[in-house]
Amino acid sequence: MLLITALFCVLGSGLAVAQKTCPGYRASNVQQTSNSLTANLNLAGPACNIYGTDLRNLTLTVEYQSASRLHVIIQDLNQTVYQVPESVFPRPSATEGVAAADSQLVFNYTENPFTFSVSRPSGEVLFNTSGSALVFESQYLRLRTSLPSHPNLYGLGEHSDHFRLNTSNYTRTLWSRDAYGIPQGTNLYGNHPVYIDHRGAKGTHGVLFLNSNGMDIKINDTAGQYLEYNTLGGVLDFYFLAGPSPVEVSQQISEVVGKPAMMAYWTFGYHNCRYGYRDVYEVAEVVHNYSTAGIPLETMWTDIDYMDARKVFTLDPQRFPLAKMRELVAYLHAHQQHYIVMVDPAVAAQSYSAFNNGNSTDIFMKSTDGSNFVGVVWPGPTVFPDWFHPETQGYWNDEFENFFSPETGVDISGLWIDMNEAANFCNYPCSDPAAFAKAQGFPPKPPPVRDGPAVALPGFPADFQPPTKRQTMATSNKTGLPGRKLINPPYTIRNAAGSLSNKTLDTNLVHYNGLVEYDTHNLYGTMMSSASRNALLNRRPGERPLVITRSTFLGAGAHVGHWTGDNHADWSQYEISIPDMLNFASIFQVPMVGSDVCGFGGNTTERLCARWMMLGAFQTFYRNHNELGNRPQEAYRWPLTTQAARNAIDIRYRALDYLYTAFYAQNQTGKPVLNPLFYIYPRDPKTFGIDAQFFFGDSLLVSPVLAENKTSVRIYLPNDTFYDWNAGFAPVQGNGSMVNLTNVNFTTIPLHVRGGAILPLRIESANTTAKLRTKGFNLLIAPSRDGSANGSLYLDDGLSIEQTSTTFINFTYAGGHFSMSGDYSYPANVSIERITVLNVASAPQGIVIPGAPMSNFTYNRASKAVIINTTIPLTQDASFQLP
Ligand SMILES: *[C@@H]1O[C@H](CO)[C@@H](O)[C@H](O)[C@H]1NC(C)=O
Ligand SMILES: *[C@@H]1O[C@H](CO)[C@@H](O)[C@H](O)[C@H]1NC(C)=O
Ligand SMILES: *[C@@H]1O[C@H](CO)[C@@H](O)[C@H](O)[C@H]1NC(C)=O
Ligand SMILES: *[C@@H]1O[C@H](CO)[C@@H](O)[C@H](O)[C@H]1NC(C)=O
Ligand SMILES: *[C@@H]1O[C@H](CO)[C@@H](O)[C@H](O)[C@H]1NC(C)=O
Ligand SMILES: *[C@@H]1O[C@H](CO)[C@@H](O)[C@H](O)[C@H]1NC(C)=O
Ligand SMILES: *[C@@H]1O[C@H](CO)[C@@H](O)[C@H](O)[C@H]1NC(C)=O
Ligand SMILES: *[C@@H]1O[C@H](CO)[C@@H](O)[C@H](O)[C@H]1NC(C)=O
Ligand SMILES: *[C@@H]1O[C@H](CO)[C@@H](O)[C@H](O)[C@H]1NC(C)=O
Ligand SMILES: *[C@@H]1O[C@H](CO)[C@@H](O)[C@H](O)[C@H]1NC(C)=O
Repeated sequence: MLLITALFCVLGSGLAVAQKTCPGYRASNVQQTSNSLTANLNLAGPACNIYGTDLRNLTLTVEYQSASRLHVIIQDLNQTVYQVPESVFPRPSATEGVAAADSQLVFNYTENPFTFSVSRPSGEVLFNTSGSALVFESQYLRLRTSLPSHPNLYGLGEHSDHFRLNTSNYTRTLWSRDAYGIPQGTNLYGNHPVYIDHRGAKGTHGVLFLNSNGMDIKINDTAGQYLEYNTLGGVLDFYFLAGPSPVEVSQQISEVVGKPAMMAYWTFGYHNCRYGYRDVYEVAEVVHNYSTAGIPLETMWTDIDYMDARKVFTLDPQRFPLAKMRELVAYLHAHQQHYIVMVDPAVAAQSYSAFNNGNSTDIFMKSTDGSNFVGVVWPGPTVFPDWFHPETQGYWNDEFENFFSPETGVDISGLWIDMNEAANFCNYPCSDPAAFAKAQGFPPKPPPVRDGPAVALPGFPADFQPPTKRQTMATSNKTGLPGRKLINPPYTIRNAAGSLSNKTLDTNLVHYNGLVEYDTHNLYGTMMSSASRNALLNRRPGERPLVITRSTFLGAGAHVGHWTGDNHADWSQYEISIPDMLNFASIFQVPMVGSDVCGFGGNTTERLCARWMMLGAFQTFYRNHNELGNRPQEAYRWPLTTQAARNAIDIRYRALDYLYTAFYAQNQTGKPVLNPLFYIYPRDPKTFGIDAQFFFGDSLLVSPVLAENKTSVRIYLPNDTFYDWNAGFAPVQGNGSMVNLTNVNFTTIPLHVRGGAILPLRIESANTTAKLRTKGFNLLIAPSRDGSANGSLYLDDGLSIEQTSTTFINFTYAGGHFSMSGDYSYPANVSIERITVLNVASAPQGIVIPGAPMSNFTYNRASKAVIINTTIPLTQDASFQLP
């Protein structure tokens, strides 16, 4: 029997813990069925108790849940140790599973010491714990897998590092944190302990660790390449996903975390926000300015400025009075535009209705003495809803119903939730929140009141014109071991906020159902997300809610979208916005995602904002947002930015149904709406490290310029046929090398259509998405090298969760033959008005489309494009042959 030694990290005191031998576990009573394996794991020697107490008796359960998914869980025999509650993370159903023999994954183990491996039937080892003893203690779990050298690993967020993870001396800490400036190498707002391991021709697999405790995941290559989980609690609960392609791994992740929620059509329009609009007049001015600048604004947002002294569910009676807010929203709705505001979880600890309602139902988090736990957020001293309390959803629904009432309140179309890590400005221990709030100036002083806007706002109502002057401790399974050190556990994770409880809720707080904040901290934001989605659904039953949240956990995408938090207006964060977004869309299954376009913190520049307005047009969630005190950065503020925004929104809107169809595919099948290059070219090693380019959908390659005064960019073009969007779709043959693009002016973003695609584009853009839906289509056929292409189009009413009639059309093109077939139930009332076929060798003699009036076609000898003007209704199959 092997005793395995390991190295331990340096304690805060600076003293190195001596190398210590942990005994590991011995497997016994191994029981195997065709689709499962169970065993007892008993401590195999004297306890080492390095960061807590070794648990003596564990169980192993291995389930072949599907051909591509293997579930391995090592838990305490008693099942007392905390596990992520089913109510927050429903487990994937695996009613019967598959026979081990039919699985793409092979589980193998050694009995003593117990180690396990997961391999492919070919023998390729994907996960192997044999290098190091398993440690399972009351407050520390460690599991290490060895990996091949120089692995291509992705995921393990939320982070702002490069998409392909550093694999040498690298620590990823997971612990929700109000991470202003989203610094690299630190724990950020959300927690998604899932990675993808891409091995090129040997395939791709995924490993999802279902654990919400604070943890450090260490990836290092000094004693051989390994990845090691160091977690403060929970159990070892793993889902291994076989792929074998990257897209399939993403789809298999969606089978575990849930398929992402479908979003309403309008949510893909352009959004504008900032922190620091002084009053409702300034909000109206911005709406007006977008309109006069000719930049389509779909949705106007307001940050916490609208609140009365920063209290949630209130309006500043002088700057954002209810009557004027209702007029503003009415104006927006009359123009087919939308309005969204921010809500924080923290409720001001003062007598007002939102506090009193919550206090009387007693749903706020409690301190150990049973009183409300008080921290400090924007309004000063605040309390925090306990999302585990059974009355909290009702409380939240009521606040939403009243405050956001379409009849009497602020009729928002969507919701933005922030500070839900939960963030608390007060340092631990927050013993005198009132004094802290006072000393730090919370709530901040609002701007002076004024009677109206500075300029006339044609079209707005007259009063928008410038003035003519308790606590029950449940005892049940999986709720946590007693007797733990919940504030300062023996093992210290690398939390950039300092100790676990610093700047958040105290980790010894006990939720209504007995769970402790120590175990559930990482769930707070995602629970607020679900409760807020439910509250929106309660207001408008049957409509797809848009909720954009800061903090997330595994599975958040089934409920909400995410913006990547408080970034900075600089070029490095512009660039890193791509991998940050790809993590969420392509791995974590939170496909509605985007950065604060033009940058939140600091002053942006005309050129950065112009470039970001264009890059942001290829985020699924597209919003410009700025921080209080910075130079204004609405898209119309500078000439270059204005033109860049017009150009990029024009492209985005023409391609909006292509986006909507791709998003729907992710909602239905988990296939990512955004793709890193290696998802499309998994056998091309040169793509594995690229994260400054990506595919919007699976066919539009986006390659932004990356620096302030640059009008050139070196991009990678795989060995494939592309068409240059900005050069009349001229064919470009990629050959698997870097290409230097020059003369990319400040209002252009390089875009290439991948050969083999058929894109359903609207024939022209529009000012709002409602208007856009009345435009006909231009089918762009971009053949691959072998002359074939395909694509699809999904249409529905754009809003309802349950659709009664939808249209789904498949388009194919091969050997000059085009055909479309599908189901045409949704009455779109528009037609395909144009078909553009690229790369046609010679002019067709004549084109006949049975059943469709053909006005004319042209052939452009230079670009080799055939342009067919026609009217094909979206009600029936059609086809034609290019002779
Ligand atoms: C628990 O593990 C110890 C060894 O550490 C073993 O002696 C004991 O029998 C186990 N108990 C059970 C209930 O399996
Ligand atoms: C497990 O349960 C047994 C019997 O109830 C108890 O004696 C033992 O202390 C428990 N072990 C742990 C680690 O909680
Ligand atoms: C499982 O592990 C044992 C012991 O290490 C080894 O002999 C056997 O070949 C392995 N089986 C497979 C299928 O990898
Ligand atoms: C990686 O290994 C080196 C050498 O053992 C060690 O100094 C370093 O702390 C390790 N890094 C991590 C993240 O564990
Ligand atoms: C490992 O990373 C840590 C933290 O980033 C750094 O302080 C240390 O010097 C690095 N060690 C090695 C061996 O690179
Ligand atoms: C798609 O989105 C809808 C609406 O959010 C949701 O109800 C559904 O579960 C999602 N996934 C599938 C496979 O329908
Ligand atoms: C909150 O409710 C408790 C009773 O549950 C009451 O004692 C307390 O005064 C209330 N707090 C405030 C500030 O109203
Ligand atoms: C724990 O779960 C077991 C098996 O599901 C059940 O028999 C037992 O009653 C549960 N214990 C508690 C305290 O809920
Ligand atoms: C809490 O954070 C503040 C601000 O970063 C820091 O000064 C303080 O040392 C931290 N306290 C603890 C207990 O980590
Ligand atoms: C940003 O610009 C504003 C003026 O618009 C100025 O007051 C502020 O100091 C600038 N901030 C920085 C960080 O340069």
